[in-house]
Amino acid sequence: MLAAESRVPQHVAIVMDGNGRWANRRMMPRVVGHKFGVDALVNTIHACSERGVEYLTVFAFSSENWNRPDDEVSGLMGLVMTAVAKYLARMAEDGVRIRIIGDRSRVADKVRDAWDHAEQLTANNRKITVSVAFNYGGRWDILQACRKAIADGVAPQDLDETRLSRYMSLSYAPDPDLFIRTGGELRISNFLLWQSAYTEFHFTDCLWPDFDARALDLAIEDYARRDRRFGQVKVDLSGPVESGTAVGR
Ligand code: IPE
Ligand code: IPE
Ligand code: MG
Repeated sequence: MLAAESRVPQHVAIVMDGNGRWANRRMMPRVVGHKFGVDALVNTIHACSERGVEYLTVFAFSSENWNRPDDEVSGLMGLVMTAVAKYLARMAEDGVRIRIIGDRSRVADKVRDAWDHAEQLTANNRKITVSVAFNYGGRWDILQACRKAIADGVAPQDLDETRLSRYMSLSYAPDPDLFIRTGGELRISNFLLWQSAYTEFHFTDCLWPDFDARALDLAIEDYARRDRRFGQVKVDLSGPVESGTAVGR
């Protein structure tokens, strides 16, 4: 049995879903749900940091979310500036490093400036790295990595998984150990397609604005019960020793 702290995932990825339904149930506009969703994110960053999670990657705006009504899209863009103004100083003090992943080319200048400012101010922090996926899509990520590799002159025979990984948006982080999706849907919705090859999934009906430290602990407990084999053979301490490579928990 490994030490208790080794059961804490090093990297947690979250699809923060359910903001709109949370607001609708309260007869409020969807954007109010997003606003409360920001508070849930701030609390989750703190809770992850306290538990020793080193990387947290959250899906904030997908490449497909542009297809939502204009007022919702502009409300979400406005929230970026509000959230950065309200929470950035505290994040910086708490040792949070903020990174943005996604296609910045379609994002308005003022939103890009807010993200740039957040990244620059927190660049030297190391307590926890929070990557915000904004105008992000897993397919886009793989495609942009291929394009960069080609532009760098990498020959086809030299391109392998390790090399391509260096061009992916999360090249600075290990692959996620735990992928949480709130809101009850059982799908990836084009999040970290490349990086989730051996990630453990935890789905919960909890709507994102209701997500809290207790919900996080439930997800981590669920994760801690999983056998991660990565295609290999689990070590069985009670039985005969397997020949070949084996992975323990
Ligand atoms: C997730 O909540 C946040 C974003 C996609 C920006 P939703 O807005 O998708 O909420 P539901 O799924 O409609 O309840
Ligand atoms: C995924 O949620 C994107 C984010 C949480 C930012 P969606 O609500 O957009 O995904 P679908 O439409 O349910 O697949
Ligand atoms: Mg949704």
